[in-house]
Amino acid sequence: MKESNQKNGWAVYKRLIKIALKNNSGPLSIAIFGMVITALSDPALSAIMKPILDGGFIQRDQSVINLLPLGLFSIFLLRSIGIFLTIYYMAKVGRTLVYRLREMMFKKILNLPISFYDKSSSGDLMSRISHNVELLSSVASRSLIILIRDTLTIIGLLIWMFYLSWELTLFFITAAPFIVFLVSILNKRFRKLTHDAQNSVGSIIHTAQEVIQGNKIVKIFKGYEKEIDRFKDTNTFNKNSHMRLAFTEGINSAVIMLIVGSSLSGIILLSTFDFVIESITVGSFVSFMFAMFMILGPARGLASINARLQQGIAAGENVFELIDEQSEYDTGLIDNIDINNDIILSKVNFKYDGSDSLTLDNVDLEIESGKFVAIVGMSGCGKSTLVNLIPRLYNVSSGKITINNTNINDLKINFLRQNISYVGQDTILFNDTIKNNISYGKKNVSDEQINNVLKQSYSQEFIKDMPEGINTEIGENGVLLSGGQRQRLAIARAFLKDAKILIFDEATSSLDTVSEKFIQKALDSLKEGRTTIVIAHRLSTVESANKIIVMDNGKIVEVGNHKDLIKREGFYYKLYNSQIFK
Ligand SMILES: Nc1ncnc2c1ncn2[C@@H]1O[C@H](COP(=O)(O)OP(=O)(O)OP(=O)(O)O)[C@@H](O)[C@H]1O
Ligand SMILES: [Mg+2]
Repeated sequence: MKESNQKNGWAVYKRLIKIALKNNSGPLSIAIFGMVITALSDPALSAIMKPILDGGFIQRDQSVINLLPLGLFSIFLLRSIGIFLTIYYMAKVGRTLVYRLREMMFKKILNLPISFYDKSSSGDLMSRISHNVELLSSVASRSLIILIRDTLTIIGLLIWMFYLSWELTLFFITAAPFIVFLVSILNKRFRKLTHDAQNSVGSIIHTAQEVIQGNKIVKIFKGYEKEIDRFKDTNTFNKNSHMRLAFTEGINSAVIMLIVGSSLSGIILLSTFDFVIESITVGSFVSFMFAMFMILGPARGLASINARLQQGIAAGENVFELIDEQSEYDTGLIDNIDINNDIILSKVNFKYDGSDSLTLDNVDLEIESGKFVAIVGMSGCGKSTLVNLIPRLYNVSSGKITINNTNINDLKINFLRQNISYVGQDTILFNDTIKNNISYGKKNVSDEQINNVLKQSYSQEFIKDMPEGINTEIGENGVLLSGGQRQRLAIARAFLKDAKILIFDEATSSLDTVSEKFIQKALDSLKEGRTTIVIAHRLSTVESANKIIVMDNGKIVEVGNHKDLIKREGFYYKLYNSQIFK
């Protein structure tokens, strides 16, 4: 069972503390030291009231009057040091926790299989790594401060109060069971409301992200009202869950205040009785009252600790759910075969998670080393799916793919991918310079190498007009470039990678004839000396292929070269005549 599934909140907390304190227990020790000093200073402050009043004001004892200011100052000095140590070093514990969790989440995100992304919303992931985890820092450190410092303060103050008047103290603590009862009722509600509030942040990010990314469509199709409504729903839900949380928190604190207030009034009333008045000096009584007021702050903290713990547990559950996700399956050990060899698919079936039918159905295919294979077929017949199986972006459901007679599942995934260049159907570019986009994943690439591959991919002519040449920033996903230019950069990236296997999923979007000619020429030189698999949408591509694979509805229906397939007058011939090729 995954650890995140456990409902036991303490297990989540223990795990968080373990992560925060691994090789990092120093800051916590210093913080606890600070808390002890602060906690001791409260009863000390209350205790010093007694000599101030009894010795200073009432008996006018000069030695007491001389010493008191110094005593008071010393207590405040120690208290300031304690407060600083607590705040600073607890923050260090909390920030280390967030830093480590973020690192774990980011590594997990990098290693998740693509199938995970197919079924999750990026807004939700963003919210977990930005918002939920952030909440943990304050919750974790605040609740530890409360647990340690406030508990110590309360114990210290109670001991002092007992010493002054055990009768009054006993009366005072009768309020405790009522508080415990109230807090336990509100517990469950807190956790549920916190979950609601946190999840709603994910929806907000998700909705905003879609509008930001799809703003062209929103504008042209006039999606304003629809988007405003959609956003309003999630925004309202977020506000309402926070308000419900605030309501519960408010009621919690208010009722506790009332209970404490009643017991305070009760004590004042009680102290007017003769037997109490006679047993206590003015200094002791004021010191007792002072201690009672000082106990309120920590008591309120302790009463709210459950709300905080529940928030922390909810956030922790959210974070651990992601951290515990199954990473991409990478158990292969082989990384020393000659990859420049035949790629053979035997009896490959593939089904997407959650889909009922097979997307690839019993595919047998041989791709000879160094040859150029084109895959054609109607839209949605499974071409992209088929090529995605080779770099293991998805894994076969059954059957096997071998390279040099080795099952690709037995290869180290990094080794496999390092030998494959991939130019996707949609060009993915990063918000960075042209140079960094092309050299992505490679270290120490010289400008000369970049210029070389730019020449090979016919990109130089548009880059030379740019203000900063190869150091020009191209915007998020390359928005500052045209479709054809983006594809040529993707080709340049493939040239630089110089891998043995080339997978090229030709874009279906039509390009102007000049761009197209450039891309064609670039592809022609790129495929030299490599095993090349191209999903072809252009006649010029298929005509030059050594072998054409014709697919229909997840199956391979014909294999041959252009001439043979035309002669056969089968499926390919029909495709050809229906002008599917440009
Ligand atoms: N991530 C996914 N999850 C579920 N189903 C998917 C996924 N990606 C594709 N499909 C489905 O699998 C089928 C094959 O898709 P694929 O992308 O392989 O088609 P294609 O032949 O490349 O089409 P095109 O020429 O339009 O690019 C389609 O019916 C599609 O709906
Ligand atoms: Mg496709």
